[in-house]
Amino acid sequence: MKAFTVTKYSPNGLEAADIPTPAFGPHDVLVDVRAASINPLDKMVRNGEFKQLLKYKPPFVLGHDLAGVVTQVGADVENFSIGDEVYSRPRDLRIGAFAETIAIDADDVAHKPTSLSFEEAAAVPLVALAAWQALVDVADVRAGQRVLVHAGAGGLGSTVTQVAKHLGAHVATTAHGKDADKVRALGADEVIDYTSTDFASVLSGYDVVLDSLGLASLEKSMTVLRPGGLAISVVGPPDPAFATQLGQPLLKPVLAFMSRKIRRRAKKLGVRYSFLFMRASCAQLETLAQLYDNGTIRPVLDRTFPFADTIEAMAFVEQGKANSKVVVTRGTVA
Ligand SMILES: NC(=O)c1ccc[n+]([C@@H]2O[C@H](COP(=O)([O-])OP(=O)(O)OC[C@H]3O[C@@H](n4cnc5c(N)ncnc54)[C@H](OP(=O)(O)O)[C@@H]3O)[C@@H](O)[C@H]2O)c1
Repeated sequence: MKAFTVTKYSPNGLEAADIPTPAFGPHDVLVDVRAASINPLDKMVRNGEFKQLLKYKPPFVLGHDLAGVVTQVGADVENFSIGDEVYSRPRDLRIGAFAETIAIDADDVAHKPTSLSFEEAAAVPLVALAAWQALVDVADVRAGQRVLVHAGAGGLGSTVTQVAKHLGAHVATTAHGKDADKVRALGADEVIDYTSTDFASVLSGYDVVLDSLGLASLEKSMTVLRPGGLAISVVGPPDPAFATQLGQPLLKPVLAFMSRKIRRRAKKLGVRYSFLFMRASCAQLETLAQLYDNGTIRPVLDRTFPFADTIEAMAFVEQGKANSKVVVTRGTVA
């Protein structure tokens, strides 16, 4: 089958390849991939930025998000049949969406929202799971709470904004002025143009902040929280709890050291800090599928590329040209 594999950890380490169709285990489904989306995580994994934590061994197939059709079902799989349309963010160390076929643990697969095309469905698993886990699992956002979502025009921010509105929150978001109408249409109550306004000068008393921009933004975000409020970062620094999620408890002291300054700053300000690295979940994807199908949330796509142009699609995203999600598609497969 055709696939895009990381042959070495490097910015030019992704190559088109012809490789065997993957073997699948008794708890797996084999999926004919119809569309896959690009995430910033693809670049980071390809470049080896995560190689100490996620020990992929080149060559391996890249790609974290997909939608497709089930072609084989493992002996122990009960909830899927051949021909089912599905979407998935496969678990770490079992990624490989940039391929014609992927074997996925059935626990990471959900039925595709019926109202979405394969391209739309491929755009959502990673960002929708991250949004749900940040706002529901970690922050337990309640109606009436105030939530600041950074980068509301991006793949993640556009989804977090919609999920926060669904939970009944008052949502402020930072975005370029050109994207103000777009983020308002997604439900943002307040839009702060990051090119002209310092969000910390206009916001205060927030319950939750979701930061995806980096340390400077995270530190500043903590100043707009109410006492006891929660800052969640999806870009780090990782906190000790992440060692447990990785199943590497010995890393706890390392991650405690890496996050010591931000945790100290949170304590000084009387707020809380949590790092989030989303995880695969079929149950949450099934819940989210209902929200897509009843129109509560919707995918936000920039453009699609043919599957053969996956390297160009990644370059488009890396060059900062994308405005929300970019998808590679195999088109109609006979
Ligand atoms: N840990 C996790 O589980 C997890 C999950 C999802 C994403 N992430 C991380 O979150 C980050 C964002 O991911 P993404 O998929 O949303 O990327 P994306 O689609 O590329 O979006 C990035 C957005 O940031 C905006 N932006 C840039 N500078 C800004 C600023 N100063 N203020 C406000 N917005 C600004 C960009 O807008 P312009 O067009 O104006 O530049 C763009 O809309 C990445 O680093 C990704 O790795 C982590």
